[in-house]
Amino acid sequence: MAKKISCLGENIIPPAHVGVIMDGNGRWAKKRGLPRKFGHREGAKTFRTITRHAKAVGVDYITYYAFSTENWKRPKDEVESIMDLFEKYLDEVKDFIEENIRIRFIGDRSVLRPSLQEKMLDTEETSKDFDAMTLVLAINYGGRDEICHSVKTLAEKVKRGELDPKDITEEMIERNLYTEEIPPLDLVIRPSGEQRLSNFMIWQAAYAEFYYTNILWPDFKNADFDRAILDFCERNRRFGGV
Ligand code: IPE
Ligand code: IPE
Ligand code: MG
Repeated sequence: MAKKISCLGENIIPPAHVGVIMDGNGRWAKKRGLPRKFGHREGAKTFRTITRHAKAVGVDYITYYAFSTENWKRPKDEVESIMDLFEKYLDEVKDFIEENIRIRFIGDRSVLRPSLQEKMLDTEETSKDFDAMTLVLAINYGGRDEICHSVKTLAEKVKRGELDPKDITEEMIERNLYTEEIPPLDLVIRPSGEQRLSNFMIWQAAYAEFYYTNILWPDFKNADFDRAILDFCERNRRFGGV
């Protein structure tokens, strides 16, 4: 891959992997007296803008938390409208394909609508060789569910006699996560004022830096993304060392 120069400046070394917990859509709509689904629609616009901008900033991977394993608890019509938005987005995804962005999905997709699953596979297949940036969408994703899934795969190997439990390593658990070859998170951005992970990439965020802002996701602008990146650049990461 050619050396990237960040639009924030030649000396800026952006985080390789940024995670975004897209939060605050519902409150954005409520403030305007609108149904929650209007907030999700507006949030989807922010997602498109920020993705293009992240590429200009020079991040290699951007992962968005779009729907959690816990979000099924929401009213049926809200869930339906979120799923409709995913499908609509995947229909329009060729815009991103033109931009050389590789798209990947993480989460348990087996319970999603078949039409959506098909589009997800298609999108991954069409974009697999693109290398300007990788966009990861976490749909029906839960960090605990992901670890559980990895552990089950290893347990099957133990049962078949192919693996001795005492030989299980962190790398093995990691290789069986949905993220496989995706690197750990460097920075997690959460808008909307909440300061929690809500089951987002709990394994991959072990040494991530966190950036919180009160701005609601639909109001989040490129300049807010830049602030998070520049803040990250000031941090001193030690990874347990000195
Ligand atoms: C995030 O916005 C979108 C999803 C979880 C799908 P919310 O819908 O959680 O918005 P708030 O937190 O209610 O404002
Ligand atoms: C996290 O937001 C999930 C996504 C952004 C997809 P939530 O709104 O579901 O999280 P909580 O319920 O406030 O923790
Ligand atoms: Mg929320």
